[in-house]
Amino acid sequence: MAKFLVQNGAPLYGVVQISGAKNAVLPEMASAILTKEKCKISDVPNLIDVKVMKEILVSLGGSINQIEENVLEINMEELSKHEASYEHTSKMRASFLLMGPLLARAGYAKVYMPGGCTIGERPIGLHLKGFEALGAEIIAKENYIEATAPENGLKGAAIYLDFPSVGATENIMMAAVLANGTTYIENAAQEPEIVDLANFMNKMGAKIKGAGTDTIKIEGVKSLHGAAHNVIPDRIETATFMLAAAITRGEVMIKNVVPDHVKPITAKLRECGVTVEITEEGLYVNAKERKLIATDLKTLPYPGFPTDIQSPFMSFLTTVEGSSTVIETVFENRFMHVAELNRMGANIKTEGNRAIVQGGKKLEGSSVIATDLRAGAAMVLAGLVASGTTEVSQIYHVERGYEKFVEKFRALGANILRIED
Ligand code: UD1
Repeated sequence: MAKFLVQNGAPLYGVVQISGAKNAVLPEMASAILTKEKCKISDVPNLIDVKVMKEILVSLGGSINQIEENVLEINMEELSKHEASYEHTSKMRASFLLMGPLLARAGYAKVYMPGGCTIGERPIGLHLKGFEALGAEIIAKENYIEATAPENGLKGAAIYLDFPSVGATENIMMAAVLANGTTYIENAAQEPEIVDLANFMNKMGAKIKGAGTDTIKIEGVKSLHGAAHNVIPDRIETATFMLAAAITRGEVMIKNVVPDHVKPITAKLRECGVTVEITEEGLYVNAKERKLIATDLKTLPYPGFPTDIQSPFMSFLTTVEGSSTVIETVFENRFMHVAELNRMGANIKTEGNRAIVQGGKKLEGSSVIATDLRAGAAMVLAGLVASGTTEVSQIYHVERGYEKFVEKFRALGANILRIED
């Protein structure tokens, strides 16, 4: 099994280029099922999750051409299978996003229960409620779900989501674009990845309005055509590098960013005393020789503070003098990194969904686990400032979601190596 070896070093310094967003490209690849024509997607990050999605699309009868390093041409003209296997879906939760487009195009979908990061209970009830509202019949077995559209196709409906789930919003949007009539998704998730998916589908001929607000209106169309699209920059990767600069008290220029997408992180870092400037080149983060102060944060659906940055931000807070409170409201059980940080000498106490960080203690290198994708990044950040060597295992989680992770960190001066055990 591969591991990262991270050593304390100089503050990070230099320029880093952000890749296309994992959480945008995965639903976008799935949405290519909605048309028989070719789609071209650019700025596709080279990640394990993307590889899994490619394999699934090919297993369904599609063909994929890698025309350039980060450009894919997807051709789903042949859709010979309407079933995503357990082998694939167990590797990645986003594979459940195949259900909506398969149901819309083929009228039937069978998808095995999703896997992915183990961050608490991650149900799919909201997705299914949405498909049912569109007229689908759902059969839920222990390890798979089958959905069948009525003979005359899905029918537009008004759907209220009890929680603004990202995946449910995307899945329902993809199912509704080819439905008869108009669908409204209320209390929809507003994440930038949803806007990007809607933009892509609108280029394919869909009629989606309101993506990025809490009410999305989808007027069903008869068919979609091929389109070309550039994936938005990854805001979670952007935030990870903002925190890498902050935790090492470094100075980093982050390029290919949409500053609006990382507003909550910018605001919190500024509150702590880190300089974050939006320039023509990108996002400039400087924490050199700053006297930093503690802060409190609470994760929320977008535009609130992203749950995916909670663990990397917590690593940073362990290095800031004073007491910080971190509240996680999006996922249950997303404090698994706390035990790992404490193993490195941090002083963090949890009570339910609240963590109190007593910051300012020097971290010590240790053997830690990447308990999920973002927690893996959090461990690396902590390792950059801990004394000695930090050994991070289970890094396949990190490689599912960060492109050229080691390369990008090393280019900024980080002492990080990937080794095969
Ligand atoms: C997506 C992101 C993930 C991010 C998360 C929240 C992708 C591929 N992944 O995951 O990186 O951490 O958004 O920003 O885009 N829920 C239900 N019922 C459902 C669906 C969800 O109760 O049917 C709950 C979940 O248990 C969780 C919360 O809603 O507590 C948020 O989940 P959701 O927004 O659906 O996250 P994902 O789409 O899985």
